[in-house]
Amino acid sequence: MTDLHRDKILILDFGAQYTQLIARRVRELGVYCEIWAWDHDPSEIAAFGARGIILSGGPESTTVDGAPRAPQEAFDSGLPLLGICYGMQTMAKQLGGETESADAREYGHAEVTLVAPDTLFGDLNDHGSRPPRLDVWMSHGDHVAKAPPGFTVTATTARVPVAAFANEGKRWYGVQFHPEVTHTQSGQALLRRFVVEVCGCETLWTAEHIIEDQVARVRDTVGSDEVILGLSGGVDSSVVAALLHRAIGDQLTCVFVDTGLLRWQEGDQVMATFADASDAHGLGIRVIRVDARERYFGALAGVTDPEAKRKIIGNLFVEIFDEQAGKLANAKWLAQGTIYPDVIESAGSKTGKAHVIKSHHNVGGLPEHMKLGLVEPLRELFKDEVRRIGVALGLPHEMVHRHPFPGPGLGVRILGEVKAEYADILARADAVFIEELRKAGLYDKTSQAFAVFLPVKSVGVVGDARAYEWVIALRAVETVDFMTAHWAHLPYDFLGRVSNRIINEVRGVSRVVYDVSGKPPATIEWE
Ligand code: XMP
Repeated sequence: MTDLHRDKILILDFGAQYTQLIARRVRELGVYCEIWAWDHDPSEIAAFGARGIILSGGPESTTVDGAPRAPQEAFDSGLPLLGICYGMQTMAKQLGGETESADAREYGHAEVTLVAPDTLFGDLNDHGSRPPRLDVWMSHGDHVAKAPPGFTVTATTARVPVAAFANEGKRWYGVQFHPEVTHTQSGQALLRRFVVEVCGCETLWTAEHIIEDQVARVRDTVGSDEVILGLSGGVDSSVVAALLHRAIGDQLTCVFVDTGLLRWQEGDQVMATFADASDAHGLGIRVIRVDARERYFGALAGVTDPEAKRKIIGNLFVEIFDEQAGKLANAKWLAQGTIYPDVIESAGSKTGKAHVIKSHHNVGGLPEHMKLGLVEPLRELFKDEVRRIGVALGLPHEMVHRHPFPGPGLGVRILGEVKAEYADILARADAVFIEELRKAGLYDKTSQAFAVFLPVKSVGVVGDARAYEWVIALRAVETVDFMTAHWAHLPYDFLGRVSNRIINEVRGVSRVVYDVSGKPPATIEWE
């Protein structure tokens, strides 16, 4: 079997927003990489066995005492190095060059001129010019004023005297600009030159190899034991289900809890996709479907505080899952859809200097007393890789490319008290919105779109009579990281069509409004 971790890159993170992007680009090239905080135990570097090290950008200034430094072990390793932005600046500083702060930050497009050929740039040339020039993207305050001894300045710009440098003998390189962002035209080609030409990595990291590797590892880990998985219908748990099924077949049992707070007909869809083996589309996985709707609505009756609702929904899930797991006497393992960004986030930098972007977690975790071993086959993967292997495992494209759906589901999209009647209205209205988005080719252009139930009655005319009925709000946003978001500028005629359909088809709704608030200050969800 291919050892797909054989050729790998280590990325030392100085806290840049773009570090995960560097890792994703390296993975897209077909090479495994890991992100470690810059102050990760340096004695582990040699044992890790990378073929090269990338030093990321970061928010600090090398001109300040006590700023983060690359570990000496990185230089002593004899491995190729690529410093990006801050990573380049700290190389300069640590190796005897000079850095300085500029009066103003440089942010955005720049053109670099390649002034001395090296292996990193090779024959890259965005303009076919002499000397070669590249269109790049810059984001920095400081820059390198003087390259260290043994280094050649390989690129300059009008503003930055040392836009790139190289020590070909040692295979150490630095670039002031960001090759990982798509605005740098030849950025991916440049990363390929480092990873493949300079470090000599073979491109083994493909969806097929990842599946093959994980299947083998899961079999190795669990042997003939049984495994349980909470299947939510979301991307991560769905891919875990398909992957484990491929690895261990009927040793896997999934528990699907129908909370009554899911998308329209989601329970049936989950069963059709995963459990049903009677047609070509079903995977034939053992899925226990728990109808817990009444329990959820009972527990939520009279509760209006959003955080209290979240707690109740999360705790009840744990309780129900626990009951089901208790019935599977032979289950020794619990599978979870933890993905790499969760792992990076919980590792973080020991000094807390790296920017930790908080993510939401659905439930607090399962009780200790369950004493199950953990199987987390997506721990090494970014979301886009999870999607790719999902498709390769035969999951429907639509399911794998779904918008995110919060753990508490419709529970936080029904403002105030949650009732079965409201959940039904909301799920129907939401289904109309999503169906129309897909029909109009707008679904993939928005990052998240959904309907919200507003517990206010507004007047409408039904036939000749006035009727007071509920209000549905539509929310659609465009975002990269879900930390900030713009409201999606959906066409008026499209919104009109959705509104008409909801009012005509969903009983109990007399008015539809569109949310035009950005985040910040408004959050994406309404609660
Ligand atoms: P906000 O509303 O904070 O949402 O702007 C950002 C992203 O997080 C999702 N979200 C949640 N996900 N449990 C979850 O699993 C939650 O309690 C929760 N609250 C918000 C939201 O859907 C969006 O994608």
